[in-house]
Amino acid sequence: KSIVILISGRGSNMEAIVKACAAEGWPARIAAVISNRPDAAGLAFAASHGIATAVVDHKAFPDRASFDAELARVIDGYTPDLLVLAGFMRILTPEFTRHYEGRMLNIHPSLLPAFTGLHTHQRALEAGCRFAGATVHFVTAELDHGPIVAQAVAPILAGDDEAALSARVLGLEHRMYPRAVRWFVQDQLRIEGGRVQQLAGE
Ligand code: GRF
Repeated sequence: KSIVILISGRGSNMEAIVKACAAEGWPARIAAVISNRPDAAGLAFAASHGIATAVVDHKAFPDRASFDAELARVIDGYTPDLLVLAGFMRILTPEFTRHYEGRMLNIHPSLLPAFTGLHTHQRALEAGCRFAGATVHFVTAELDHGPIVAQAVAPILAGDDEAALSARVLGLEHRMYPRAVRWFVQDQLRIEGGRVQQLAGE
């Protein structure tokens, strides 16, 4: 299977997926890492691991539709079976999400359906939540919705600030996201009635 990963910045989840794919011998290869920001730190990691990189800078396009069309053109040049969003900070058009329906995953730093959108950890702290976490889900047209593949839960501890909480959750993301991608490339995930059925394995 061929995987294309989209990033916008640090790329630590992308890094975790690249490393797990190699270390665990997945039936898959990371065909490319693509960023909408030329300065995304994760591009250097990908290049240094022999992975093709590309930049499609959203600032060079007049609107979302033209950016998404070019992004899809570049992605499809790598004929991916799976598109992985890993800290990719652009809202996608319905045309784009439809094109990759059932083969595009995202990780969101909250326990969905709570706290869609931005500043999830700060909002969980302000709401007095006792737990926070992250969710891997298939991407649909509605932002931060779509069938849930996996969730990881972290406690919120007295004295936590946004940095402490996001670091705790990020550690869980780095374990959960590679596992969820592996399930996909091993053909273990099916979407039925808007929910994910996992066929077998761990
Ligand atoms: C992660 O917290 C992820 O949940 C969110 O954006 C952050 C990306 O971090 N979507 P990184 O670029 O993978 O380091």
